[in-house]
Amino acid sequence: MTTLTIPETARSVTFRTALEAAPRRPQVVETGTTRNAAAWEGDGCSTLVFGAWIARHGGRLVSIDISPSAVQTSRRLLRQWSLPGEVVCADSLSYPEQRTEPIDLAYLDSLAFDFRFGGASQRQTLAEAQLAWRKLSPGGVILLDDAHLAYGGKHTLARAWLMGHGAETLAVGPRRVAMRRPRRASHGLRVGSRPGPSLAGRAVSKVGWLIDRPRVRGT
Ligand SMILES: C[S@@+](CC[C@H](N)C(=O)[O-])C[C@H]1O[C@@H](n2cnc3c(N)ncnc32)[C@H](O)[C@@H]1O
Repeated sequence: MTTLTIPETARSVTFRTALEAAPRRPQVVETGTTRNAAAWEGDGCSTLVFGAWIARHGGRLVSIDISPSAVQTSRRLLRQWSLPGEVVCADSLSYPEQRTEPIDLAYLDSLAFDFRFGGASQRQTLAEAQLAWRKLSPGGVILLDDAHLAYGGKHTLARAWLMGHGAETLAVGPRRVAMRRPRRASHGLRVGSRPGPSLAGRAVSKVGWLIDRPRVRGT
């Protein structure tokens, strides 16, 4: 038995907040899969984090990536740790468009940030957020990556759009922002005009997330 320890880093705090806030046994869809097993601080290893959560709590993970090599790596890592998750090689906008089941947690992390206001990565994140919002269940969460960078990072346009459509800001992490669809519409009032709690100063547990899974040989 090998243990996958998910370290609590600046990146992982908002993963956990979003997972705890999302409906139970979540239907998770992420855009941009894990392509590097060691990038807990850099990329975040989101596919492993979601797979580990679902292994313990139930739910389903679909991870979408346009790169065949990233898909191959992510599938291998899930197998290696015996974690659940389907990795689909597709464009981030084409798969969710076809999906009929509601989404409980959408993590949007495809295009790398291009350091431009209104640039391709902000527009891509906006398009992904608009699509995810249409499929999001009541109480469902959209997690936006790279919120800490110049020009507001990748999330700026998406967050503004989501707030304008009634999403509440659940958490502002050091690198991510979590937005939630309220379970019930509030009478004509826009939810989300207040900023959510900042996680920047939150104490980070020294103990990682321990997930016991058998290692699969030859992967
Ligand atoms: C930053 S990485 C994802 C990191 C991952 N979420 C993690 O935490 O380890 C971004 C990924 O998005 C993929 N990507 C870029 N454009 C895409 C698109 N249009 N559709 C789907 N995936 C895309 C890239 O191939 C790359 O693997």
